[in-house]
Amino acid sequence: MDRRRFLAVGASTLATTALVPATAEAAAGTDTASADAGAAGASPATAASTGGGTDDALRTLASRINLRIGTAVIPFDLDTPDYAQVMAEQFSVVTPGNEMKWGVVEPEQDVFDWSGADRLVAFAAQHGQLVRGHTLLWHNQLPTWLTDGVADGTITGGQLADLLKAHIFTEVGRFRGRIWQWDVANEFFQDANPSGINPNDFWISHLGPDIIPQAFRWAHQADPHALLFYNDYNIAGEDGTNAKSDAVYAWLKQMRGQGVPIHGVGNQGHLDTQYGFPTQMTQDLQRYAALGLKVAITEADVRTFVDGPDTQVPTDHLATFAHPYEYSQMLKAALAVPECISFTVWGFGDADSWVPGTFKGEGYANIYDVNLQPKAAYFDLQRDLQLAASGAPRRVHT
Ligand code: XIL
Repeated sequence: MDRRRFLAVGASTLATTALVPATAEAAAGTDTASADAGAAGASPATAASTGGGTDDALRTLASRINLRIGTAVIPFDLDTPDYAQVMAEQFSVVTPGNEMKWGVVEPEQDVFDWSGADRLVAFAAQHGQLVRGHTLLWHNQLPTWLTDGVADGTITGGQLADLLKAHIFTEVGRFRGRIWQWDVANEFFQDANPSGINPNDFWISHLGPDIIPQAFRWAHQADPHALLFYNDYNIAGEDGTNAKSDAVYAWLKQMRGQGVPIHGVGNQGHLDTQYGFPTQMTQDLQRYAALGLKVAITEADVRTFVDGPDTQVPTDHLATFAHPYEYSQMLKAALAVPECISFTVWGFGDADSWVPGTFKGEGYANIYDVNLQPKAAYFDLQRDLQLAASGAPRRVHT
């Protein structure tokens, strides 16, 4: 069953879904001022059918150590009641999967579409969730009017920098006070040993590497209370050599030394069972934190080879063990680092995953299956969070 057909099923009960305020998470409270931007006074919702009730929802368990559990969201899927229910019940921070990217918010020059982003931000406020903004400076999903204009010379380098500045001020300004963490810059480092900032990146090749710290400065001016993140994949040892982590660490240290307003680093956490779990994730996250940065897992998923994109049954039955194991290990790495303040999965149901469309032959990447039933990985995260409540350090938010 494809995602759209799946999403059409069960689209009948939104009006009857009761969203009851939960007390456990609210009682657990939070010791962070900026972390509560946009969520003050809001009540998390509860519902009964997926993975248990309020007390054992992921967000509730995590709240005991002041950790936020997040998901990427497709805002238009909020029309599907089962989807909206899981999202409200299980998660305390949300990321728009695509709807804050430049190509979506400004498809034609000076023509803006904030509908998806606005809808998600409103849903989050209603359900006591914080928002991760994603993403301001990235080579992908740019508007074609911008890339075409640069390619044909009608947009010069100076104009490109001005357009970027305006984009950042417009978008960050629009959501000022309502975004907890912004992924300001995304995926600038090379997959190579040694690694470094990719000179062929769209932004770097046209404006040079100083555009990255400049983007952080603009974002900070536009919303001085938002936590500003550098976000990338394979920066916690997933490359096997740790070369990319080394390069990102050195750059972050340099940026911090220069007083650039970078407050956090996000490891996307896109894993694949065929490579095994990286051995240095905890140490890598720890050394980022030692620079005075917050840390987040921002896009966790664990893909494996499957029979097909609709059913997503692993072709190697042992992958059904590797899958929850890698989720659990990744969460444990995050739990070991008190500065790690959020753990976000890149979507929760396999029917919504970006993996089958991106990695040929792979899927089964999320913690709920194609029918929106919780998988072993969901229950392992639940167990880990339950145990963490009586052992793991509370998150450091100041
Ligand atoms: C992906 C989305 O999930 C897809 O829907 C879209 O087609 C492509 O982008 N790293 C990121 C995310 O930072 O923005 C990407 O999201 C996945 C990889």
